[in-house]
Amino acid sequence: MTSVPKLSTVISWFFYLIPVYLFVLNPLLSQIFPGPISVSSDDGDTFDEFDKTAAPALNLADDSFISPEDGVPSNCPGEGDGYHVHLLSREPLVMYIENFLNHEEAGHLVDVSVNKYTPSIVYDGINERVDPSKRLSDRALLDRDDTVRCLEERARAFQGWRPHLYIERMWAQRYNASGHYRHHFDWTGSLAHGGDRLSTFMVYLDADCTGGGTNFPRLRMPPGKQWCRFLECEEDGQHPPPGITFKPIKGNAIFWENLRPDGTGYPETWHAAFPVSSGTKVGLNIWSWYQPPKRKQRQG
Ligand SMILES: *[C@@H]1O[C@H](CO)[C@@H](O)[C@H](O)[C@H]1NC(C)=O
Repeated sequence: MTSVPKLSTVISWFFYLIPVYLFVLNPLLSQIFPGPISVSSDDGDTFDEFDKTAAPALNLADDSFISPEDGVPSNCPGEGDGYHVHLLSREPLVMYIENFLNHEEAGHLVDVSVNKYTPSIVYDGINERVDPSKRLSDRALLDRDDTVRCLEERARAFQGWRPHLYIERMWAQRYNASGHYRHHFDWTGSLAHGGDRLSTFMVYLDADCTGGGTNFPRLRMPPGKQWCRFLECEEDGQHPPPGITFKPIKGNAIFWENLRPDGTGYPETWHAAFPVSSGTKVGLNIWSWYQPPKRKQRQG
């Protein structure tokens, strides 16, 4: 003889199930499926997609993804320190770097990438796919030759040789006419689960093009006409796009921090590559991952 449980009994089961889910099931599941969790930023934007060009986000030991410091002696003539830095924003930290690469270095990276391009992908939190409505460009994984290694070192030095910071393998991104990348974040919100992109250098390797600006709709135009060398300024009463838009200039770079000190992402780093109108643009991303040291207990 089966009896139907009383309503109050069913309700109390549910109460017991909540802690079971919170403290047992959910941590267990996130161990088994450590994929990026959903993220939303301050002003309520859900996180649409992020630039996850390389391999699985959390596998930092995999050197197909990270450039390990492997003791290969660097051979960097002149150290490449002939660049000039201009502070654009303190919070989030955004800096503009003139001549981060000299023209020989930029030209070399364009040359070595030329035969290696494949269509760029986007990642929606679950799948990687080619989606020309969001991103139309080709990408090429760069070998770690002398130039690339010097650049890794330059990127580390620029950030004060910060501990627990790893440079992601570098990709050149080529945009033909109509090539573009819709607004996105470079960070994933995955710091608590192993690591996230602390910072981005967006370098222009080739800028033989019209259009193709890099737009940050949530950053404000800094005062000072001098910025018009690097940023699109209002001309002839034309309405500029929201925020600020960097002109593609060969060898120059934009540097920004994606994460606050507490590891959450800055919504102001939302950015896009505007469509190229004519010619070709080649960009280079230098992403620095931050992987905090694991605590003795806790921490998955
Ligand atoms: C860009 O142009 C190159 C050379 O013409 C071509 O091979 C490539 O498929 C083009 N890429 C895109 C995304 O249109």
